[in-house]
Amino acid sequence: MKIVLIGFMGSGKTTAAPLLAEKLGLEVVEMDDMIVQKAGGKSIVDIFQAGGETAFRDLEMAVAGDLRDRNNVVISCGGGVVMSQATMDSLAQNATVVELSTAFETVLKRIHSAIPRPLFEDEAQAKALYELRQPLYSKHASIHVTTDGKSIDQVVQEIINEVQNL
Ligand code: S3P
Repeated sequence: MKIVLIGFMGSGKTTAAPLLAEKLGLEVVEMDDMIVQKAGGKSIVDIFQAGGETAFRDLEMAVAGDLRDRNNVVISCGGGVVMSQATMDSLAQNATVVELSTAFETVLKRIHSAIPRPLFEDEAQAKALYELRQPLYSKHASIHVTTDGKSIDQVVQEIINEVQNL
């Protein structure tokens, strides 16, 4: 089983993934961590500063390629994976893609500066990205779970129920 979690920044992918993996007896992979590794330990912010979003997306696509044939895993993706069809093709290979969907107001409450996000510098920029990506998350996922007002346990249980109903 390969489960791929997609959704906007602050939708809860990073929090849900380890719990989901534990409950299903799967490994967990955080794509952003793999990107940092692939960049020789450079942080996400440094990758953006040195080579812009293009450099980041290239690394993201390469990591997705590495994950193409992985099995028994839950993959927590960065919010921007849907911007590249090639990245999504690799991730979606033999996978169930799950969208965590979250209202923008909730995203704003969840995102704080503890984790620097180069594409979340201000609310207007983030809102524009959010609008742009909504149809892409919908299109790429076969399971859609809303997270607003739900505990992490509820979200994870809903994903499990949906996956088992497929
Ligand atoms: C990004 C989301 C981030 C990270 C990078 C770009 C995006 O991951 O991959 O800052 O384009 O939405 P999270 O969704 O885990 O915050």
